[in-house]
Amino acid sequence: TQPTRIAPSLLAADFARLGEEVKNVVASGADWIHFDVMDNHYVPNLTMGPMVCSALRPHTEAPIDVHLMIEPVDAIIPQFAKAGANIITFHPEASRHPDRTLSLIRDHGCQAGLVFNPATSLDWMDYVMDKLDVVLIMSINPGFGGQQFIPGTLPKLAQARRKIDAWVNAGGQSIALEVDGGVKVDNIAAIRAAGADTFVAGTAIFGHPDYKAVIDALRAGIAK
Ligand code: DX5
Ligand code: ZN
Repeated sequence: TQPTRIAPSLLAADFARLGEEVKNVVASGADWIHFDVMDNHYVPNLTMGPMVCSALRPHTEAPIDVHLMIEPVDAIIPQFAKAGANIITFHPEASRHPDRTLSLIRDHGCQAGLVFNPATSLDWMDYVMDKLDVVLIMSINPGFGGQQFIPGTLPKLAQARRKIDAWVNAGGQSIALEVDGGVKVDNIAAIRAAGADTFVAGTAIFGHPDYKAVIDALRAGIAK
């Protein structure tokens, strides 16, 4: 069976104490650190870049999962690789040549993935399956934490799961299926049932005083 992972989103962490937040959440059982990059252009918000990634790198051995919500994409990739990113995902419609961008990410030694907004077609996957390590399905519109999970993304997750399983069954490499937005203790079982194996959660984790209690509860929901 495939591994499942919890990826706390730093977007909901205390930005004045990021190193400490990363340590606490990893000590509480986080598998990946989800690192949201926004440019006030592709999305109407502005967060953090390679310098912050680099500053956090010595504070944890957990994989740093960089979610690029930026346009254009390519120029920043070498900088994030150098800053210690392990996984880099981007929105295909924000890159002029998504196939090239996926190769660029892998050439820099990182795992690569595409991110799909709620209204973006999964067709973008079809001709680049061999270049994907991750597929990230947005269950909200990107830009802000704390939004409501969009239920229409559940059948879409199931569709992505079918594509990945067909690929793996035909001898392809494994591809993580990640979900991002509005993931909570009370909906994670349904999201898991739709096929996700990697779960981003921002406010659900950082908005709670006891990170370990929430992460344990999220895992219990996955195991249901
Ligand atoms: C939003 C980000 C998400 C965000 C999720 O554009 O990509 O990672 O932090 O936050 P919650 O879990 O609060 O919906
Ligand atoms: Zn994200």
